Amino acid sequence: MKKIAIALIGGCLFLYWAVQAGASPVKRYDALSKTCRIFTHADLWAGYKIFRKNCKRCHFRGNKKQAKFLYTESKVRKGWDRVFATKYPPCAKDGSWGKLTGEQLARLNDYLFKNAADTYDPYDATDCG
Ligand code: HEC
Repeated sequence: MKKIAIALIGGCLFLYWAVQAGASPVKRYDALSKTCRIFTHADLWAGYKIFRKNCKRCHFRGNKKQAKFLYTESKVRKGWDRVFATKYPPCAKDGSWGKLTGEQLARLNDYLFKNAADTYDPYDATDCG
């Protein structure tokens, strides 16, 4: 009996998860590791903390380090993926990203991707007329 109850609850949770997944993607193809990353709350939370602690050290509004104000919606999903896949920003090259490991950078990418611009209210030009 207990097993059936657990299976039922599990089934409901899975359905809920599947519906949520449709509303907002919970995965991302990571070009560096060539893997599909399925987001967990722990990963996204870790990414958020890495962003606050490392990147926001410079990229906050009104900073004196000539760094643009950056937040999750500064870029669309593709844009954030490009930042981490190519590491083109000057701060990535001069060591300002510190000792972040590949996995930490992937979590940071997950967090920024999940909350990127055009994610919750996609702008679609064809809607205008
Ligand atoms: C020591 C300060 C510093 C830190 C820490 C830092 N940056 Fe930067 N970053 C800069 C500066 C200065 C520039 C060049 C000016 C600009 O484009 O904002 C830059 C540029 C960038 C750009 C290019 C801007 C654009 O519009 O494409 C991105 C993206 C970026 N940083 C992301 C990050 C991320 C992600 C982190 C954390 C892992 C980070 N930065 C940490 C100083 C910093």
